[in-house]
Amino acid sequence: MDTARPEDEPAREGGQRPHRRAHTTSSDVARYAGLFAQRTTVMRSSAMRDLMEITSRPEVISLAGGFPDTSTFPPESFAAQMTRIAQESSARALQYGPTEGFAETRAVIEEVMRAEDMRPDPEDIVVTSGGQQALDLICKTLIDPGDVVIAEGPTYPGAVPVFCSYEADTRQVGMDDEGMRIDLLEELLAELDAAGRRPKFIYSVPTFQNPGGVTLGLERRRRLVEIAREREILLVEDNPYGLLRYGGDPLPTLYSLDGGDYVLYMGTFSKILSPGIRIGWACAPPPVRAKLVLGKQAADLCTSTLSQFFVREYFGEGRWLEYVDELRDVYRSRRAAMLRALASYFPRQATWSEPEGGLFVWATLPDYIDTTDLLAKALRENVAFVPGEAAFVDGRGSGSMRLNFSAQTEDEIAEGIRRIGAVVGEQVGLYETMTQSFEIVQPSPSSAAPPGADDPPTGEVLPFQRRPPEER
Ligand SMILES: Cc1ncc(COP(=O)(O)O)c(C=O)c1O
Repeated sequence: MDTARPEDEPAREGGQRPHRRAHTTSSDVARYAGLFAQRTTVMRSSAMRDLMEITSRPEVISLAGGFPDTSTFPPESFAAQMTRIAQESSARALQYGPTEGFAETRAVIEEVMRAEDMRPDPEDIVVTSGGQQALDLICKTLIDPGDVVIAEGPTYPGAVPVFCSYEADTRQVGMDDEGMRIDLLEELLAELDAAGRRPKFIYSVPTFQNPGGVTLGLERRRRLVEIAREREILLVEDNPYGLLRYGGDPLPTLYSLDGGDYVLYMGTFSKILSPGIRIGWACAPPPVRAKLVLGKQAADLCTSTLSQFFVREYFGEGRWLEYVDELRDVYRSRRAAMLRALASYFPRQATWSEPEGGLFVWATLPDYIDTTDLLAKALRENVAFVPGEAAFVDGRGSGSMRLNFSAQTEDEIAEGIRRIGAVVGEQVGLYETMTQSFEIVQPSPSSAAPPGADDPPTGEVLPFQRRPPEER
């Protein structure tokens, strides 16, 4: 390795950090490249994390992140809870804690799971640094390079970098407006059987899916659990949004249908309390849980003790469900604002999901539009979304985008969608001029295409599974 200091780098003066060049050059990269582990070549960046620097600018309306609205949490309660911790438990709250989490935190988690009709054993729970760490530990525990993991297509964009960094062979199963297509899953399983391959687990966000906004139907839930039991494979149920329902009736979780033998459950406080405290959990059969704890010992010893004390104080007040109710009211109205804006500003060729809960709408545009390219144009108009490709491991999803409705006010949502609609409209206009097709592109109920037509009417279907170009 060339350890010489780059010539343009000034020497340290007065103990100050040397000035770094604004951009990493290829020779900078080459200096370290020989030291990198092989696995770094398959690591992928998270689209949402990449966008964060831009979307945190005040002039940008971000419909990109999955941010809950933390401004709804009353600052005076927060101050009172933290003061109590400082006065009564300062030494313990500032100390290390057990790797699996405090018993009090696990008791709170049990209460949260009971609110969705689950009956976990607190001994099966391991408290993690967010749901994200739970997913990382699950992969660390179960995945050897090349092992098959099955996920929905599209899947949670934050899961893609995790599957990639553990070098999983990720297969994605298409969805419709009732979630993962179990018939397609069974086809895939048969194909894998024929090739002598047994998947390690099926990863699903069955309720108000991120990014699809759809919910797995009851019959499909039952069949999915049956499949896991028949084949003795794990089903990883990731459920950050189950309590954020704005309409319709709750469905049983996969965990409650299975009883916790084959379903490895993941939860988080991020969307019902705060993502900043970084507390999530996994609830797993004892042998799996033991391995998760070993993995966590190596990763970070324990989850923030201070955050766990905060959770204990907050839940101890016994009003957490009232706050979840408040969030539901706020998000219900924002969801409605987004759906109204989409109907007004997106071209009639676009389709989108109409979620009964959660934080996201998945919109699909005419297939000649690439949403990764579109994002660059949208950012020039100070509006952001997550391009659909981030939700696939293999470059699919380029015709779709994920839109978040929890982080902005109703007016901002309407304005954001108007701006995206305008850049989409430009692309549609350009395409139609170039193809000499002078079709009317503004939304108009009377001009809706017939069922089964190539461009379905606004909002009617969820073309998660796009047909290959030759069939269009
Ligand atoms: C489906 C899903 N899983 C996991 C996470 C990670 O959440 P956290 O690490 O904040 O608990 C998110 C966050 O948006 C999510 O949507």
